[in-house]
This record gives sequence, C-alpha cells and structure tokens, in this order.
Amino acid sequence: MARIIGGVGTTHVPSIGKAIADGKQHDPYWRPFFAGFEPVHQWLAQQKPDIAVVFSNDHGLNFFLDKLPTFAVGAANEYRNEDEGWGIPVAHAAKGDAALSWHIINGLVGDGFDITMCQDMLVDHAVTIPLQLMWPNGDWPSIVPVSINTVQHPLPAMARCLELGRSVARALVTYPKDLKVLVIGTGGLSHQLDGKRAGFINKDFDRLCMDQLSGDPEALTRYSIPQLVELAGAQGVEFLNWMAMRGALCGTVSELHRNYHIPISNTAAATVLYENRPKQQRKAA
Ligand code: DHB
Ligand code: FE
Repeated sequence: MARIIGGVGTTHVPSIGKAIADGKQHDPYWRPFFAGFEPVHQWLAQQKPDIAVVFSNDHGLNFFLDKLPTFAVGAANEYRNEDEGWGIPVAHAAKGDAALSWHIINGLVGDGFDITMCQDMLVDHAVTIPLQLMWPNGDWPSIVPVSINTVQHPLPAMARCLELGRSVARALVTYPKDLKVLVIGTGGLSHQLDGKRAGFINKDFDRLCMDQLSGDPEALTRYSIPQLVELAGAQGVEFLNWMAMRGALCGTVSELHRNYHIPISNTAAATVLYENRPKQQRKAA
C-alpha cells in the first residue's frame, strides 16, 4: 500500500529560479525565503519519499485558454519543462510513474472526477521551482503532476479541491506497491500580477488561511471563488492547489514548520510542512 507521509505547501514564483541559477540564496533579499526550506530539507532527508504528487496550475506552457481542463493528471514516465519566457534556465525533466498515475486516475474517475488524462504533459515553473527548492541537489523523486485550473473562470470550488485531494488519498491506499508519497501544493499565497490591484498582498488573510489549513481545512470551504479573488488577489486563487494537497492528508496531521515572507517578486511567499501519520486504530472493546 502506498502511504502519504506528509505534505508541503510552497510558493512557485519564477524569479526564484533565477536566484537559484545565480547562487543568490544567501543575499539579504533572498535569505529569509530560502532559510524557510532548511527544515523541509532535513525532514525530506529523514523521510526519503519515493513519489511526489504535485498539485499545481499550468500558466500557459502545457494548456492554454483555448483548451483548459479543470483537473488534469499526468500519466507519463517523464515530464519535460520548456522555456516559458521568464529568463530562467529550463529545468531538467522530472521522472514520472505512469502505472501509479493510472491507478490514481482510475480512483478519481471512480469517485466522480471527470479529469483529463495526459500521457504527454509539459510541466512549468509551478512544478519545477518547488522541486528545485525542496531538492536543491536535483535528486527529485518521481512525480504525479495534477493540474488544477486557477487561470480561466469558472474555477473549481475550494471544497471540490479539498475533495480532489481526498480522492487521491483514497486511491493510494489501494495501490499494491509499498511507496512513501509526499503531496505538494504550489503557488500563492496572496498576489495579483496585473490590473488595478497589481501588487496586492493580504497578510491577515494569508495567516488565516495557513492557520485553518493546518487545523480545520473544511472551514475554508466557506469562501467562494469571488471572495477568494477579493481577499487573496486574482492569482492568490492558486491556494486551490494547497487545498488539494491538504485534502490528501487524511491521517493525523501535524504542522512541523511554517515560513511566511513578504514579498518575493509580487507575491506573499509561504512554505508549510505537514506530517501525516496513520490514524490510531481503536482498540477492540
Ligand atoms: C509571480 C507569481 C506567480 O505565481 C507566477 O506564476 C508568476 C509570477 C510573481 O510574483 O512574480
Ligand atoms: Fe503562479
């Protein structure tokens, strides 16, 4: 059986890729952000996950506005990155695990998620930057990319994304191979890249989101998508990826680490690490 050992939420701002390429991790601007990954590195070195299921949103590299699935799951043994025009190096390809992807796809469709299945899928900065941040030596685990539309409205609801994560978790329980799985949610927190509110950041709302995501994620489903846009900014809706990640943590969840730093580029940058332990079995009376 595959086991979900934990979850990570992280920002995916492209300029982080330039900072990594230029070795700026210790510069005063970048230090408070990169330092937030040190506890994550230590935990990953101890836990050694075999697979990472990555919930993120594509920004036009793989899907565009003409054809944009609400939920799409990669079913390949390799996922390439390409130049997106941000001026950052193209990342090396991430390994995939097509057999595991198909198992998850079967579970999702069985649970009523009419997802798009992608045997060929490019991954953009929303996948590669988090992998670079978490495994700076390039030794990434195999991934199952799950793409959530946070770009073109109508977007899926907060509750639907939480349920998507839960469905992935249910599928993993019935996978015959003994694998340690990490779930990752990327993007956010509050930010808006264009329009009248460009540069918008909402520290209070970000804090509330992180607090409730940890202890009571269900409570966050009270926010509609228009409310989320209002409170977190037009691109702050990337928090949907974090909701899916959190939904996949169905055991006893402990927050091991949190970092919040404003700004990285136009974004309130946040990193969280959760541990997910199997729920204690009730003893027979
Ligand atoms: C930025 C943030 C994003 O989430 C993104 O996808 C691209 C750019 C930014 O703050 O620069
Ligand atoms: Fe983004």
